[in-house]
Amino acid sequence: MKEYQNSFPKDFLWGSAIAASQSEGAFDIEGRGLSVADVATRYDKHASRAQRKFMDEQKLMAALEDTDNSHYPKRTGVDFYHRYQEDIALCAEMGFNVFRFSISWSRLFPNGWEETPNVAGLDFYRRVISEITAHGMEPLVTISHFDLPASLVTTYGGWKNRKLIDLYVHFASVLFAEFAPQVKYWLAFNEINGARFNVFYSTGVLADSSDNYLQDCYQAAHHQFVASALVTKKLHETRPDAMMGCMVAKFTTYPATCRPEDAIEAQSNEQVDNYYFTDTLVNGEYPYYAPRFWRENNIQLEITQEDEATLKAHPADYLAFSYYMSAVSSADKSALEMTEGNLKKGLKNPYLPASDWGWQIDPIGLRYTMNEMYSRYRVPLFIVENGLGADDRIQDGRVQDDYRIDYLRRHIQQMKEAIVDGVELLGYTTWSSFDIVSSGTSEMKKRYGFIYVDWDDEGKGTMQRMPKDSYYWYRQVLASNGENLADLPQPVTTHRN
Ligand code: BG6
Repeated sequence: MKEYQNSFPKDFLWGSAIAASQSEGAFDIEGRGLSVADVATRYDKHASRAQRKFMDEQKLMAALEDTDNSHYPKRTGVDFYHRYQEDIALCAEMGFNVFRFSISWSRLFPNGWEETPNVAGLDFYRRVISEITAHGMEPLVTISHFDLPASLVTTYGGWKNRKLIDLYVHFASVLFAEFAPQVKYWLAFNEINGARFNVFYSTGVLADSSDNYLQDCYQAAHHQFVASALVTKKLHETRPDAMMGCMVAKFTTYPATCRPEDAIEAQSNEQVDNYYFTDTLVNGEYPYYAPRFWRENNIQLEITQEDEATLKAHPADYLAFSYYMSAVSSADKSALEMTEGNLKKGLKNPYLPASDWGWQIDPIGLRYTMNEMYSRYRVPLFIVENGLGADDRIQDGRVQDDYRIDYLRRHIQQMKEAIVDGVELLGYTTWSSFDIVSSGTSEMKKRYGFIYVDWDDEGKGTMQRMPKDSYYWYRQVLASNGENLADLPQPVTTHRN
């Protein structure tokens, strides 16, 4: 029987996370090929979701040919490619013992299909990983985070093509051969339910890909499932104690009222938004509700017996998730006001505040989510993203982001409650370590970091790094293994200029 635990485990992993396409920049040097992230233009928070996510062949080709990089902020990122040593050192000074980042597939394989990797790309990640481990941190590597090589879209139509499974497994095998000795924790795909909410950036499927777009999306997800299972197998063959996680963007959904119709609506949203993905990858088989969903949406998937055997034989070792907000469902669509959210729009919850981008802040929902997921799967959980996007400003030489401290404090408190409830949690990596380009809007203005980066939406600034107030606060939290969540006694005055 599990023992009662009233504090964070001694070996708890604390840190934060970034992604290659939002931070590295250097999109066209030393042999890197273009990726789907390099064609994302900037939108402000008023742009519609449909407008932001839409990508068809014409728009893609125009963007790939466009050499005006100022239209595509992820091409520049925040120059992690050249500043990784300083960035990693700053994180280490905060007391991290884990650092989550992703590998750019097109930096290693410019078109995605080459046999041998680009030496310069491999060498870059060798240096990054050595830097992380030299500072005593565990690297947590996401193999694919919204940056599929663009050639795999123009040539194969993205993940809807089965060919991508082999290409991805080859890419991952090169990573394992090189890095598995230093890297124990891996994630096959960032937010694998992106196939539902963030189709182009997650799977490379274009809006005009065929006359059955939805089928293409779910076929792409199926190929990612099989690829996940195959790389889990490969990783274990390379390093038996290494762990491959499946990761989702978790949208815990409450019914708008206690009307049974609303409860069914919320349950059904949970199934198709989250559990369709995690049930398949953690349980190793498609859930019982999948056939009805396929039938009612005119989806006919190509799933071989070998695919089914692969999924069954190689389930994920742990369940990772991003958590920013919760959602609300009602059977009556006109019942409540709508609000924005991470990847999907939803109904407004009258009991919750929201960020400036309309994401509803729900720390208690994190405890609820952790209990739901742990009781469903009984595999270790890992919170690999959680944070507040805000338009931080420097005033009197400081960024006084007490709102971020408040957000993180309240989530860490609930995370601890879930641990006391008995949930097994490996670690917590906030989003993000330092300010990076927003995934959804490509804005710099939407900042999540503990470290301010002097770069703006007009592409102006010095790129200098400067710790925010939250940096010193998180350092105190980590020094106490999550026990001291109090405000700092006084402002720290060692800021860089
Ligand atoms: C997650 C992604 O969905 O949310 C990250 O994994 C992303 O890449 C994060 O940055 C926050 O979203 P956004 O759109 O505010 O950057």
